[in-house]
Amino acid sequence: MHEPSSNIQSVLQENRLFPPFANWCSTAAVPNHDAYEELCAEANRDYEGFWARLARENLDWYQPFTQTLDESEAPFYKWFADGKLNASYNCLDRHVKAGNGNKVAIRFESDAGVVTILTYNDLLRRVSKTANALKSLGMVKGDRAIIYMPMSIEGICMMQACARLGVIHSVVFGGFSSKALNDRIVDIGAKLVITADEQTRGGKNLPLKSTVDEALTMGGCEAVEHVLVNRRTGGYDKMQEGRDVWLEPLVEKQLAKCEPTWVEAEHPLFVLYTSGSTGSPKGVQHSTGGYLMWATQTMKWTFDLRPNDVFWCTADIGWITGHTYITYGPLSAGATQIVFEGIPTYPDSGRFWKMIDDHGCTIFHTAPTAIRSLIKASEMDDKVHPKNYNLSTLRILGSVGEPINPEAWMWYYKNVGGSRCPILDTFWQTETGGNMIAPMPAAIALTPGSCTLPLPGIQAAIVDEAGHDVENGQGGLLVIKRPWPSMIRTVWNNPERYKSGYFPEELGGKYYLAGDGAVRHVDTSYFQIMGRIDDVLNVSGHRLGTMEIESACVSHPLVAEAAVVGKPDSVTGEAICVFIVLKRETPVGEEAKQIANEIRDWVRKEVGPIARPKEIRFGDNLPKTRSGKIMRRLLRSLAKGEEITSDISTLENPGILEQLKQSL
Ligand code: PRX
Repeated sequence: MHEPSSNIQSVLQENRLFPPFANWCSTAAVPNHDAYEELCAEANRDYEGFWARLARENLDWYQPFTQTLDESEAPFYKWFADGKLNASYNCLDRHVKAGNGNKVAIRFESDAGVVTILTYNDLLRRVSKTANALKSLGMVKGDRAIIYMPMSIEGICMMQACARLGVIHSVVFGGFSSKALNDRIVDIGAKLVITADEQTRGGKNLPLKSTVDEALTMGGCEAVEHVLVNRRTGGYDKMQEGRDVWLEPLVEKQLAKCEPTWVEAEHPLFVLYTSGSTGSPKGVQHSTGGYLMWATQTMKWTFDLRPNDVFWCTADIGWITGHTYITYGPLSAGATQIVFEGIPTYPDSGRFWKMIDDHGCTIFHTAPTAIRSLIKASEMDDKVHPKNYNLSTLRILGSVGEPINPEAWMWYYKNVGGSRCPILDTFWQTETGGNMIAPMPAAIALTPGSCTLPLPGIQAAIVDEAGHDVENGQGGLLVIKRPWPSMIRTVWNNPERYKSGYFPEELGGKYYLAGDGAVRHVDTSYFQIMGRIDDVLNVSGHRLGTMEIESACVSHPLVAEAAVVGKPDSVTGEAICVFIVLKRETPVGEEAKQIANEIRDWVRKEVGPIARPKEIRFGDNLPKTRSGKIMRRLLRSLAKGEEITSDISTLENPGILEQLKQSL
């Protein structure tokens, strides 16, 4: 297991507690600690009854379920299996039917600052027309569509339209390369690829459709019948006859009514690819019923959503946070939400604060990386400091995706929340579907840097390598002991990988292994996440496998061997550091710089800009054991600039350490 970073050490010594005090606490969904305890007790008394109640309360079922949990093929669990429903119906129609059609669903702000407002009525019409457009291209229940689109109303409508028809969507983040896109198109067997001509971020237009064109020439895409293209910038209009179709004219001519396709609760709502420690990215498959129930319930429990709230999650729809806390959770819960196309630093680093002010945002949810970069920006330029904006509408702040260091937490608390707003540090993963360990704002006292306690029903625990519980204060593996409704159902095309990766035999085959190390606070039992225990990096909250970056490096004609490790970074949390052995003599000075840049650009092209290495070091070899295994522990120490004091007796070539140390 990786050793905890210095950040984590400071979190472990953190004893500050911020009890709930806001004047709205008494009317919160879960108003105090006793109410939280009562929900946990209910789940312990009658686990299935508890989840069945939540599934009935949170969703409208076309055909009610009679079975709650089916464990007969564990760990391939089924929830609410004989029930039928539709996700898009739950996100749209039911609010319109309840008389809330004129409520604002989305306040969209473009990169350039243009605001578009859509009510639930508007959204239902657009999604229905979009679904009819998909139908006209022959898309039916069970077909797969890749969505490679910007943060946009069209992107959200497209996900909802797929859900309306039972078409399984797989959204690929717009920052991924043609190669990464091709891998996903092939693995999912997509029949349709949906994209835009270009995307706009920070005032710049960036390619999308041309990347799709390239991905489709790479082979294995025979199942793709059409490419549907949203005209976003007008900057690229090469269309392939017979294959490519413009989105707007096709949607325009459709009827505004589309009967939802009722699907079984276990019908896959979507597959989202994420990085693992080995091999290619894995397609995390989510269900319709269990997933949507938890997306909806956590909006009420974690975010205490109320009818007048203006919710804003700054994630991208290309990641799980954008699925659960933009496309599905807020809409299913009937919220008004802000959707933002751009980036926090454009036109200046006050953009988030200005938008909170302009839109009257009440619940703001972002990532630690964004906070850390905005702290830095406001230290350099007082004009973009949050104090210059009216942030008095805020009542709740959220943090997601990576550990938030206590210093950033305190800054966020004081300067953004005006010391009035609880900060919800929400721990979860692509695989878990929704929040797992997170404070309920009126029920749980906060500690900076801790995600506090599991939500009711979530049986989180910390165990040793043999699966035995460890004491508070002792580090170990984070597991979830019982299945829960929004959990991953399988790895698309690879059930074996699901079983062995998430339910390892060493732990008894029954516990879900999160892949993170964690420890519980001695007094409060609060969870502290210590970071990944496998070779997965977290750069700016983006999850990247070291293997993916290594294979990209070694595909460069000059590279013989590459090893990737993470290095602590004050803004991005972790940064990518690569140790490389070339097929020629080891370069130094200017030449080393030039080759390093070439490799950086290569990785950027192979995987995407988020995977561009920050640091590249060359050596004649890598530190290896006698059996030839790379000693990553030593590389991690070198990357951090630490003295190597640990045991290196198993190292075959100790001399290499000095060379790699000097290579910076
Ligand atoms: O290491 C944990 C970290 O992000 C990983 C999951 O990444 P992904 O599947 O991309 O989902 C991110 C958004 C939910 C976890 O295994 N992580 C996520 N949230 C936190 C976190 N680490 C510490 N604190 C968190 N709140």
